[in-house]
Amino acid sequence: MDHFQYQDGRLYGEGVDLTALCDQVGTPVYVYSRQTLLDHYQSLSRAFAPLDPLICYSIKSCGNVHILRLLAEAGAGMDIVSGGELHRARKAGADPEKIVYAGVGKTDAEIRAALDAGIGYFNIESENEFETIAALARQAGATAHAALRVNPDVYDPDTHAKTTTGRKETKFGVDIDRAAAFFARYGKDEHLRLDALHLHIGSPIYSADAYAQAIEKALGLIDQLRASGFAIAALNIGGGYGADYTTDQTPPYTLYAERIVPLLRPFVEGGGKVILEPGRTIAANAGVLLSRVLYTKTGGTRRFVIVDTGMHHLVRPAMYDAFHFMWPTVVAADFVPSQRGLEMNLAGLETVDVVGPICETGDILASQRALPPMQRGEVLATFTAGAYGMVMASNYNAMPRPAEVLLNGDQWTTIRRRETYDDLTALEE
Ligand code: LLP
Repeated sequence: MDHFQYQDGRLYGEGVDLTALCDQVGTPVYVYSRQTLLDHYQSLSRAFAPLDPLICYSIKSCGNVHILRLLAEAGAGMDIVSGGELHRARKAGADPEKIVYAGVGKTDAEIRAALDAGIGYFNIESENEFETIAALARQAGATAHAALRVNPDVYDPDTHAKTTTGRKETKFGVDIDRAAAFFARYGKDEHLRLDALHLHIGSPIYSADAYAQAIEKALGLIDQLRASGFAIAALNIGGGYGADYTTDQTPPYTLYAERIVPLLRPFVEGGGKVILEPGRTIAANAGVLLSRVLYTKTGGTRRFVIVDTGMHHLVRPAMYDAFHFMWPTVVAADFVPSQRGLEMNLAGLETVDVVGPICETGDILASQRALPPMQRGEVLATFTAGAYGMVMASNYNAMPRPAEVLLNGDQWTTIRRRETYDDLTALEE
């Protein structure tokens, strides 16, 4: 799962005592484990090895340049959705040919930059966008490759409504039943070679069934397109693989692979390339958000623990009612958690709301959560915070964003310094 474990009642990340780390770097801080990032990337690669896929790490999940560099050096390509993410990928030294670019609202400037970089694939979200990219490629005298993003009209009922994308009624891609007409119209373009399909059905997807259904539909479409004379060189099956917000919540990669690999093997044996775009499954468990308890108080029958982080640094609980396991970094022997779950069944816990300093009632990290009794000054860890954590952080209430630290064994490096008040106003001068 990850390399964040208690030893003698103290939380360690790899070989680093995280409470002592906070004394040095301050709080709040996002702390990432290098080994966890690499383990996830490598075990996903191993599970899908029979397909020899290109794994494009989804930068949107956790985009620190140092983390991207680590994954690029391990062989990963990058999945981007903006010019800013292209900039990050290039800064990290990612191979441009291993970059795939999705997103419904690519601007002309972003498209030109991606053409200039020579990225692997534009994932096309609409007819209007295809025409625009093709025209810009022609102007630039460039040739680029395009994958049509199709909506297979499949969804996993366990996926949150705000992160489901594979249905007809989403803003992403085009309906699968419009794909043949799309290829008929644009499939012979000289500057934007339409020779691939892209799927992304949502995030997180905890069952392999939804992937299997979507892939079967895509393979049916590929047969149909090939019969009409279109060469399909690649199939991008998207991201969405789960993370362990609670212990063992996610099926092992081998279970996803057991369903997916046999379906795609003939496509690969026929010379097709499979692309994966995982984000959360690689980054989520590789990061914790550490904060300090500022105050405790009661309000009516409720007990509040007020910490120095909140919805401005980790918006997932407020935005999606997401569950993140939290626990103090130093606990008595009786309180060492044997697993991360919704219900902890330990004697002596106190039911509290963990809230942040933001002037919003919704600034809640955990509601009615049983935790060991906590006091001012103690450090609280929020787990599985590596994905969609720092990347979605804001400066609301003029709060500086957290620092970021990368662990490596018993060593650590600050990979993003803490913002200062001058940083907050720097662009307004
Ligand atoms: N590919 C495409 C086209 C995507 O839109 C996404 C995520 C991914 C890949 C990566 O998905 P992953 O493997 O990370 O599940 N902020 C939300 C998640 C939004 C996901 C957006 N798209 C959250 O915190 O749950």
